Amino acid sequence: MTQTPLSTPVPHPTTPPLAASARGLTKTYGRGDAQVHALRGVDLDLPAGRFTAVMGASGSGKSTLMHCLAGLDQPSAGSVSIAGTNLEALSDDALTRFRRDHVGFVFQAFNLLPMLTAGQNILLPHELAGRKVDADVRARYDEVSAILGITDRLGHRPGELSGGQQQRVAIARALVASPAIVFADEPTGNLDSDASAEVLGFLRRSVRELGQTVVMVTHELDAAAYADDVVVIADGAIRAHLVDPSAEQLVATLRPGGATR
Ligand SMILES: Nc1ncnc2c1ncn2[C@@H]1O[C@H](COP(=O)(O)OP(=O)(O)O)[C@@H](O)[C@H]1O
Ligand SMILES: [Mg+2]
Repeated sequence: MTQTPLSTPVPHPTTPPLAASARGLTKTYGRGDAQVHALRGVDLDLPAGRFTAVMGASGSGKSTLMHCLAGLDQPSAGSVSIAGTNLEALSDDALTRFRRDHVGFVFQAFNLLPMLTAGQNILLPHELAGRKVDADVRARYDEVSAILGITDRLGHRPGELSGGQQQRVAIARALVASPAIVFADEPTGNLDSDASAEVLGFLRRSVRELGQTVVMVTHELDAAAYADDVVVIADGAIRAHLVDPSAEQLVATLRPGGATR
């Protein structure tokens, strides 16, 4: 170890701002013999402006983690903060408003309303919140639609769009409010490989070009390869948080017994 002279100023660590963070996050379902420990004290920091994949076997707690981080589900213990706001300090109403303004969610099943056009679906959360679609919102809508490559599809209903296009509309809907973080739970789970690649490419563009923070659950290595960072979860605990891993590093970590913290 080298000794630092006392006169040398201690450099400030250059920690990026956090989009989300969890401490001691625990979720237990059921009681007694039927108890399931879905999350066992998860500590996690997700820096802003990154595309993070969450990987793990089926039943490892990925969806539970996403739902607790997004404030869609209440943890049994522990805390979550999004963009510096502690979720457990919020009342139910305040949490609903906070989620609406700062959190985006993309589901495997698109969840678009079939009777509305793509464009109407994208603006629906905004209108449900009783907000005017002013020039700023319109500009963001145009920008997000262009980045997701759906500008020429906005007048079509979901039934007239391919699966990949429908998911890109769902992503645009999540992005239009400029949320602090977007959670996507297996967003390509219902798509074939071509459509998956297309959606993942556009999702990555939203991180690169809009500075968006995206956290995506996937169990596919191909999908995780689009992400900057990879969080590996097993049996309700974080096994690894890889920053910019190489393909070899990722494969080695995912190999049974290979993950270390
Ligand atoms: N509502 C629930 N009630 C009881 N057990 C649940 C519930 N939701 C999830 N679980 C259990 O919690 C564990 C983690 O589930 P989940 O977070 O959905 O995993 P993943 O998304 O990684 O497949 C599993 O054992 C699952 O069966
Ligand atoms: Mg799941």
